[in-house]
Amino acid sequence: MGKERGVETKLLAPDERGVREAARILAAGGLVAFPTETVYGLGANALDAEAVARIFEAKQRPRFDPLIVHVASPEEALGLWRATPLVAERLIERFWPGPLTLVLPKSDRVPDIVTAGLSTVAVRMPDHPLALALIREAGCPIAAPSANRFGRPSPTHHQHVLASLGGRIEAVLAAGDTPVGIESTVVSLLDHPPRVLRPGGTPLEALQEVVGELRLEPPRSDPGAAPAPGTLPRHYVPHTPLFLLAEGPPQGGEAFPRNECGLLAFRAPWHGFRQLEVLSPAGDLRQAAARFFSCLHRLDEAGLAAIVAEPIPEEGLGVAIMDRLRRAASGEARLDQTHVWLSR
Ligand code: TXA
Ligand code: MG
Repeated sequence: MGKERGVETKLLAPDERGVREAARILAAGGLVAFPTETVYGLGANALDAEAVARIFEAKQRPRFDPLIVHVASPEEALGLWRATPLVAERLIERFWPGPLTLVLPKSDRVPDIVTAGLSTVAVRMPDHPLALALIREAGCPIAAPSANRFGRPSPTHHQHVLASLGGRIEAVLAAGDTPVGIESTVVSLLDHPPRVLRPGGTPLEALQEVVGELRLEPPRSDPGAAPAPGTLPRHYVPHTPLFLLAEGPPQGGEAFPRNECGLLAFRAPWHGFRQLEVLSPAGDLRQAAARFFSCLHRLDEAGLAAIVAEPIPEEGLGVAIMDRLRRAASGEARLDQTHVWLSR
C-alpha cells in the first residue's frame, strides 16, 4: 500500500467485490485507478466537477490539458456529445470497445473542468471487462487520464500506479498488466477529413479503411505549429535521460561507457550494455507496444547514466511507439565499439 500525504491507497482485488468498492469510492467523489486495455486510468465521476478537480491535483496535471471520458456503451457516448455524425457511428461500430478516442462538440452535461474549457469532449469505450464493470456499477461516465504523474511514462501495471500515485488516490483496482500497453488513438471529428491528435492503440491503417483520408497533426519538430492540447513535445519522460539511437559514427557529444547505459532494443540483443530490454524478439509490433512502458519503467529504475532506445519500424502500432519515444527523448545517441555518445 502506498502512503504519502495521509491518504492510504487501497489495493482492490480484480473481482466483483473490488469493483463494488471502487464504484462506492467514485460515488463518494474519490479517485480510483483502474485497468483498461491500453494503460491504467485515474478515474473520477465525470459529472462531478469537484471529483474531477482532484484528478488534476493528484497527477499535478496542468488545467489546460483535457481528460478522456470513459463509457460502457455507445449510447452513453451519444449523451455526452451535442450531435453524432455518421463518421462517428461508423468508427464506433468498427472499433468500440477498443483503443479509439473520438473528439466531438460536448453536450451541457459535461462539466467544463473535464474538457479544460474546450467546447469539445473526448470519449472512448474501453475494451477491458473490469473497466466496463466499473463504469456500469458506478452508474456514471468516468473521466480518466493515464494514472501517472503528469509528463511521466504511462502505467501498464498496478505497481506503476502505486509507485507514481500511491498516497495521493483512494484505491487501485489491481489487475496486473494491461494487454495493449499503449494509449488510445485520439481522433478529432471536428474537421473533414478527421484529424489524428495522437497515434495510439488503433493503427492508422485500420482507421483509413473506415474513413478513407486522415489528417495527421503537424510533426512535433515544427516550431511554428501550435500543438493540440496535451500533445506536448516533451512527454512520457523517464527520470533517466533517454536518447534515440541514430546511425553513423559519433559526432562528438558526451561519452559514457556502454556498461553504464541501458538499451531499449526492438528485436535483437546488443552487447556491452549494463541492462538490456528487448521489446519483441520476433519483431511483433503488438508485443512491442504491450511491453513498451514496462520495459521503460524497468530501465528507468536501474540507476543508469542513460537509456538508449533503438528506433521501431513506423507502421501499425510502431507509429504510436515512435511517437512516445520521440517525446521521451532528450537527444540522439551514437555508438562506437565501447562507448555511447550522447548529443542533446
Ligand atoms: O488509452 C487512453 O487513452 C488512456 C486510458 C486511461 O483511457 N488515457 C489517456 O489519457 O491516455 P491522457 O489524459 O493521458 O491523454 C488524453 C489525451 C491528451 O493528449 C488530451 O490532450 C487529449 O487526449 N484530449 C482529451 N480531450 C480532448 C479534447 N476535447 N480535444 C482534444 N484533445 C483532447
Ligand atoms: Mg497520459
